[in-house]
Amino acid sequence: MAKSNTVFVCSECGATSPRWLGRCPSCGKFNTMAEEIVAPAAPAKAAKKATYAPAQAKPLSQVQFTTYERTPSGISEFDNVVGGGIVKGSLILLGGDPGIGKSTLLTQIAANLSQGHRVLYFSAEESCSQVKMRAERLGLLSDNLLLLNETCIDNIDAELDGVEFCVIDSIQAVYTDDLSSSAGSVGQVRECASRIMRIAKSRGITFFIIGHVTKEGALAGPKVLEHIMDTVLYFEGENQENFRILRSVKNRFGNVSEVGVFEMTDHGVIPVTDYSGIFLSESRGEESGAIVTPARTGNRCMNVEVQTLISKTSFGQPRRMPLGVDYNKLVLLLAVLEKRCGINLGSFDVYVNVMGGIRLNEPSADLAVCAALASSYYDRPIDKFTAAFGEVGLTGEVRAVSYAEKRVAECVKMGFKKVLVPAKNMKSMTKYLDRIDVVPVLYVGTMIKNLFK
Ligand SMILES: Nc1ncnc2c1ncn2[C@@H]1O[C@H](COP(=O)(O)OP(=O)(O)OP(=O)(O)O)[C@@H](O)[C@H]1O
Ligand SMILES: [Mg+2]
Repeated sequence: MAKSNTVFVCSECGATSPRWLGRCPSCGKFNTMAEEIVAPAAPAKAAKKATYAPAQAKPLSQVQFTTYERTPSGISEFDNVVGGGIVKGSLILLGGDPGIGKSTLLTQIAANLSQGHRVLYFSAEESCSQVKMRAERLGLLSDNLLLLNETCIDNIDAELDGVEFCVIDSIQAVYTDDLSSSAGSVGQVRECASRIMRIAKSRGITFFIIGHVTKEGALAGPKVLEHIMDTVLYFEGENQENFRILRSVKNRFGNVSEVGVFEMTDHGVIPVTDYSGIFLSESRGEESGAIVTPARTGNRCMNVEVQTLISKTSFGQPRRMPLGVDYNKLVLLLAVLEKRCGINLGSFDVYVNVMGGIRLNEPSADLAVCAALASSYYDRPIDKFTAAFGEVGLTGEVRAVSYAEKRVAECVKMGFKKVLVPAKNMKSMTKYLDRIDVVPVLYVGTMIKNLFK
């Protein structure tokens, strides 16, 4: 196939160059030049005129409402994360570290979908026999699942007749003949992705695209295609541990705070419904510095353990190391504890960790962080069946949070005995009072007195 005319464009300032340059001569940034195809201007315009009638503005009330057709993937946790099922014709990007289980998850979904639909697995990284070996190990064999071992995206079009779902494994391994740069470069990734998008939107085929995350982003990571995708999912977890978290960072068809929890086993990734083994430690309640908080993840609440450790600073500057909690939020809470409760941690290093790799970005975790820090400071453990949630203001007052009822319901379900809640949320708690000790908290100081009196 003849090469198209290409040009190198700076992703920062848009400057162009006929050759690749390590440094953009216009803005001076390094490694920003990516190859792009030059479309012949005149014919493109003519084609546009011929195919599209100019759109006309119409009142909102007259816009026809189309409901999204959603197909269940066969894995309930996955459906939850994408907003209640896979939307027809959408582009779903699944990013994650190498070896985390991206191909495994999508092989399972492809096999499930192939029960009622025609599915194509476009494997650019592994041979068909490797994919079959995996499918056999997972106990998934289906006649409707088509495998294609190919790296050139130009050949995919012919194979898509009658296909409803297509998996591309992975976007970094496919290339188009029209660009001379190697597979995985920013230009190739972007061009292949936009070609896939055109196919998806014009033919109504749903694409699952696997993308590798690289540390320094020297190779084109999924970041460069996030804006093209309808849904961007990240599959995360420690390689040594078997638990994986599926997180949505962008979703045009659902809530992005939804997470799915999976366990990696010999038989593939299995959704986890009992989270207590992942987000709560076994020795909970024996050591100081930990408390449980009901965290909201999308439409659900999960009980998650917040652990803290304080140790004397050996160097001049005390360290603050939060994992799963925002750094600035931790600094703010430390200031509130010092000023309002007399807990001065200025000469201590402070470490905070949220178990299971969950990120507590919502304000409702504030009270639990304060309680865990106070427990570390007084070196007194908090009972393992006690939970706390609430937003802490700079004045030390505890403010109401959303989903309070759901959070308490989760504590009841998990067998907790006591939950510290913002006093302003007490109105909605009446139906739980006979099942759990609900303690209203107006100020952080009150909570500390309640826990350590
Ligand atoms: N025989 C096996 N038994 C149990 N688990 C296995 C087996 N083979 C592979 N795994 C698990 O599957 C993981 C690899 O899964 P998979 O190939 O789906 O990951 P990936 O994210 O697609 O990797 P890559 O980046 O190489 O494409 C391994 O890390 C391992 O945990
Ligand atoms: Mg893979």
